[in-house]
Amino acid sequence: MNVLAELGDRIARARTITVLTGAGVSAASGVPTFRGKDGWWRQFRPEDLATAEAFQRDPALVWEWYAWRREKIARCEPNAAHHVIAQWSQREGCRVVTQNVDDLHLRAGTRNLIRLHGSIWEMSCWDACGQRAWRDERRLDAGRPLPIPRCPACDGLARPAVIWFGEALEPADLYAALDACTCDLFLTVGTSAVVYPAAGLAREAKRRGSFTVEINPDETPASAAVDLTIRGAAERVLPDLSRI
Ligand code: OAD
Repeated sequence: MNVLAELGDRIARARTITVLTGAGVSAASGVPTFRGKDGWWRQFRPEDLATAEAFQRDPALVWEWYAWRREKIARCEPNAAHHVIAQWSQREGCRVVTQNVDDLHLRAGTRNLIRLHGSIWEMSCWDACGQRAWRDERRLDAGRPLPIPRCPACDGLARPAVIWFGEALEPADLYAALDACTCDLFLTVGTSAVVYPAAGLAREAKRRGSFTVEINPDETPASAAVDLTIRGAAERVLPDLSRI
């Protein structure tokens, strides 16, 4: 049996599966990655756009960047990898943990989704009132940034409900992700495996006895730690696996 057929068989037999995804899963949809060839962090410095300090210094600039990303993402559709993962998620015992904030997994119909880094389509209050994660789908206004959104509860500044560098994950999401590390099969797909705590989940799953697999065209720090690496694009490998 070849490697893909063997993995397809494991997927079919596993009682519990966890899929961890990163920006590479949305690449074929047209959403830029962070560290790839045309990735965001090749053009911009994260400390200028994705930290609490950056927002404190210049909320309009940070909002403009998020509005611009929303504009891009709104034109993207889930790809074949999102659809296969959504199909797997209908199975009892399948959990999906994503670092992506684009909500393409949700748009593909994924169940049991843990959004570790939040959603670009949600906001929370930057000021003290603590209002959390309300939906807001405003984009650019004819190419121009909108005024900085306000919190509906206290009229303070609103911020994107995403996790910025230096911020802790929502405890409930972190616990759910750690819980998902107890599984028969753990797939890490399309992530450079450098941002913690997400980057540590495959190792944790292996420590707990899961069979761990990486699907990525490139080598990552997780490659040496997993039981099986498949070098390929998610939108090609996942449909191949689901056909087996
Ligand atoms: P990265 O941009 O760091 O990594 C994307 C990974 O996807 C790379 O390892 C690529 O080799 C791989 N890749 C590219 N195209 C692919 C394809 N078609 N199929 C499969 N894999 C492909 O993105 P993440 O690992 O998601 O955090 O980045 C992690 C976090 O760093 C993000 O969530 C974001 C960022 O800063 C926050 O915003 C908090």
